[in-house]
Amino acid sequence: MERKVEMVLAIFVLLSWGSGFIEAGLQMGFYSSSCPQAEMVVRAEVNMALRNDVGFAAGLVRMQFHDCFVRGCDGSVLLDSTPASKAEKDSPVNNPSLRGFEVIDRAKARLEAACKGTVSCADILAFAARDSIAFTGGFGYPVLGGRRDGRVSILSETFSNLPSPNSNLSQLTESFANKGFSQDEMVTLSVRHDGMGKTTLLLHDYEDEMTEEFDLKIWVCVSINFDDCWRNS
Ligand code: HEM
Repeated sequence: MERKVEMVLAIFVLLSWGSGFIEAGLQMGFYSSSCPQAEMVVRAEVNMALRNDVGFAAGLVRMQFHDCFVRGCDGSVLLDSTPASKAEKDSPVNNPSLRGFEVIDRAKARLEAACKGTVSCADILAFAARDSIAFTGGFGYPVLGGRRDGRVSILSETFSNLPSPNSNLSQLTESFANKGFSQDEMVTLSVRHDGMGKTTLLLHDYEDEMTEEFDLKIWVCVSINFDDCWRNS
């Protein structure tokens, strides 16, 4: 439980108020007069989606991380590719593994109907990540509002800004330092999540010399297709 609290507080402090992502003009209750229902609508959409598939909670937290590491928390991960330019969303880093876009789309559609052109997608994503953590038993925490949506999203920037599952410690440390995070903050944010736990750490175990003793070693990449096979079997 303590660890969960630490993780939640870290996300709260780091992604919402903290270091690399502080932006001028963010404030509590940013929409209190322009669109008072903003946070309530996002929470309702998140809760509805999570009641159907609680896995969206992980997807939305990861989506905010992937949004914030590329061009800041500007919703650039949500933009679609154009014929002239592939967007972050279509990078193999995000496609097909990033999930929850439809939750943000639904919240945005409702908020456009209620308060046209007011609530940014970047804020919706920040609220949704917070609400996902609360829904799954973590702490609720206040999120500042007022992020502006970017208009630029470039696939190749995901490679240069997001850490790879094959990164070693110094590469990971550098990647987080580039965004203003200390190594302690990096570990707090990452250590209990699927990428480090399931992918990176397991890969280290898999490659450990002790496994040379095994008769058979198999590395299975869990993808959406794998899930489909599992469901159909
Ligand atoms: C330290 C560097 C990190 C690496 C290399 C990394 C990499 C990965 C990878 C490879 C996956 C599996 C994606 C798949 O399903 O194919 C994953 C999942 C995930 N990551 Fe990370 N990650 C890192 C840091 C973080 C941070 C800082 C957060 C959030 C604060 C985060 C949140 C998540 C979540 C919630 C999932 C599960 C997503 C889902 O089930 O939909 N990761 N990560």
